[in-house]
Amino acid sequence: MKMPWTRLRELGIVGMNQRNAEFIMPYNQRKYYPLVDNKIITKQRAIEKNIPVPQLYGHIELEHQSAHLPSLLSQYTEFVIKPANGSGGNGIMVIAGKTASGHFRKSNDSVIHMDEIKHHVSNILSGMYSLGGETDTAIIEYRVKFDPCFENVSFKGVPDIRLIVFRGIPLFAMIRLPTRQSDGRANLHQGAVGVGIDLCTGLTNHGVMQSRPVQAHPDTGFPLTGIQIPGWDQILEMAAACYELAPLGYLGVDLVLDRELGPMMLELNARPGLAIQIANQQGLEPILKYAQALGTIPPSAKRRVKVGKQIRRKFARDSA
Ligand SMILES: Nc1ncnc2c1ncn2[C@@H]1O[C@H](COP(=O)(O)OP(=O)(O)O)[C@@H](O)[C@H]1O
Ligand SMILES: [Mg+2]
Repeated sequence: MKMPWTRLRELGIVGMNQRNAEFIMPYNQRKYYPLVDNKIITKQRAIEKNIPVPQLYGHIELEHQSAHLPSLLSQYTEFVIKPANGSGGNGIMVIAGKTASGHFRKSNDSVIHMDEIKHHVSNILSGMYSLGGETDTAIIEYRVKFDPCFENVSFKGVPDIRLIVFRGIPLFAMIRLPTRQSDGRANLHQGAVGVGIDLCTGLTNHGVMQSRPVQAHPDTGFPLTGIQIPGWDQILEMAAACYELAPLGYLGVDLVLDRELGPMMLELNARPGLAIQIANQQGLEPILKYAQALGTIPPSAKRRVKVGKQIRRKFARDSA
């Protein structure tokens, strides 16, 4: 990150090695990884726990099932195809509509044909986008329609809200906004913008793109600061409840806000990235260390949200 080393130390910024040794290794048991590394399993668990997720339209597990794609996809004008074991936005194809001649239109407006969709599914099955390169399966699901509050700061894609939930307590949040470059996806490595969110209020603060501070969305020019995320407490509660779905102590939760259906869980991460610290101009270390020392953690998600807010308020006061 492009900040002087002493400043990073002052902020308590955690690096990759520290994250792995102090937070991932001790808090994330390997046996729970499949619950989050496979998006089909995550979706099924979420449905069991009454956590809303984008509806599954189809699941292609074997090459020959691709023959059913034309009849399956004829029922929908919009959908998303993604690898069940993917990460970082790789292999995600967002179809935003159909052309008059019946071909498909991607979220960046390029037109693609059924043959290309079949080819993409075949690439997914071969493991081209999967963690570790093993064979994979393809998910076809509802395309989320973003909430109007993001109209000015999103370029043809759905922003997602990333939360760090530590020991079941939501402690950090940022929103990731798609750009022209990120092609319908909100992953920072694809070129999306990350913007910190004040955990207590749901108001956006600082922006970061390709590790550098930004004030405005690169494609729309609108300011990134001061956007109120609607239904913030509900979002925090849903993120806290995801800990019951996959008991990983250091968990990255990705949520999206649908304009009709409200907040939905998109996926969970056992190794969430560290850019959330830069977007919030606040290191993870002091806050996670404080939460590490808490004796008991409330069993209810609602209470854990309260604890998260109390912790963040305490640190805001201390640094004022
Ligand atoms: N169902 C969907 N509707 C709309 N956009 C989606 C959908 N699924 C994924 N995306 C876009 O792609 C991004 C990455 O999706 P995600 O499911 O988190 O996979 P990954 O593990 O690759 O990050 C999301 O942040 C969002 O912008
Ligand atoms: Mg994601």
